[in-house]
Amino acid sequence: MLKHKNDEIILILTFLLLVSNICWLMSQKRVKECNTTSRVKKNVQVFLLAGQSNMAGRGGVIRKIVGGNVTKVWNGFVPQECKPNQKIIRFNAAQKWEEAHEPLNYGIDCLASCGLGPGMAFANEILKRDSNFGVIGLVPCARGGTGLFKWRRGSLPYDELVKRAKLAEKDGGIIRGLLWYHGESDVKGGDGYRDYKINLEKFIHDLRSDLNSPNLPILQVVLPYPKKPFKGPYIEEVRTAQLAINISNVIKIDAKGLEIGPDGIHLTTPAQVQLGHMFAHAFLSLINFTSSNTFSFYKFFHIFS
Ligand SMILES: *[C@@H]1O[C@H](CO)[C@@H](O)[C@H](O)[C@H]1NC(C)=O
Ligand SMILES: *[C@@H]1O[C@H](CO)[C@@H](O)[C@H](O)[C@H]1NC(C)=O
Ligand SMILES: *[C@@H]1O[C@H](CO)[C@@H](O)[C@H](O)[C@H]1NC(C)=O
Ligand SMILES: *[C@@H]1O[C@H](CO)[C@@H](O)[C@H](O)[C@H]1NC(C)=O
Repeated sequence: MLKHKNDEIILILTFLLLVSNICWLMSQKRVKECNTTSRVKKNVQVFLLAGQSNMAGRGGVIRKIVGGNVTKVWNGFVPQECKPNQKIIRFNAAQKWEEAHEPLNYGIDCLASCGLGPGMAFANEILKRDSNFGVIGLVPCARGGTGLFKWRRGSLPYDELVKRAKLAEKDGGIIRGLLWYHGESDVKGGDGYRDYKINLEKFIHDLRSDLNSPNLPILQVVLPYPKKPFKGPYIEEVRTAQLAINISNVIKIDAKGLEIGPDGIHLTTPAQVQLGHMFAHAFLSLINFTSSNTFSFYKFFHIFS
């Protein structure tokens, strides 16, 4: 009889324990912890996106007259290739991870005129090609109108890039690469085109050194030819400099031929999607990617490249 009683107590206790467990699992706090933003901070596959306005994204940005003033606004169109995905997060202007969505560079260098860039198409394509890639953390850092002389130590865009990269890495994120689209300012005039190659090499070396990542994969866009009304007399000089970069783990992506919008310099939305895919294929071709063991993949860069 007594033994029976004990069994009964144990049964009741077990039941209570089970109920409290279920309650805990379903509690507000637990649900919060389960959400993408907080769950995935560890092992985030981090990509930095920097350069000028085409990396920031101007796809779908149209001129609109508001109260007699000409303003630029984004038409809001998001192609299927750029839709949000719960495995894609972005490091926002407030330095917090959130679900990524267009316009990706929002709050970094622009408010109203921010449009579609290559980042979301890139990340979605990587996940399409390799569903085990893991969570992709995009860190937008692009700034329109910044000549290469601004992308150096002690200057805001560069320092912000390094700072945001390090913050993104803090919780266990692994920096996998930099997507770089730059040069629009330096083709217009000034002295920027003269030492473009040397300064770009310096940027690459400094960044790798500041991020402690000597073989950081860099996907470097070679500028497409601008068209009227944009004036870019030094396009050949800048393209030649960009094409002459010969550094290990720097892949050049020639954007020549991608569709350019009516302003003569900014890629259209379909062109940005194409560019995003080019970035993805270039990254995946960099090495033979083995998704089952991401750590060895990371080491692979350091040992074999
Ligand atoms: C995830 O949690 C964060 C912070 O707790 C919150 O800001 C965000 O809205 C949540 N996202 C979802 C999809 O519930
Ligand atoms: C138009 O621009 C002027 C000068 O910048 C500004 O004062 C005015 O508020 C603007 N109007 C609208 C409707 O935005
Ligand atoms: C790039 O550099 C490597 C050695 O670092 C050299 O073997 C190769 O020929 C160079 N390529 C070009 C196109 O200059
Ligand atoms: C990468 O994979 C392809 C196809 O499996 C193979 O042909 C190629 O030799 C591999 N390259 C390296 C560097 O292992």
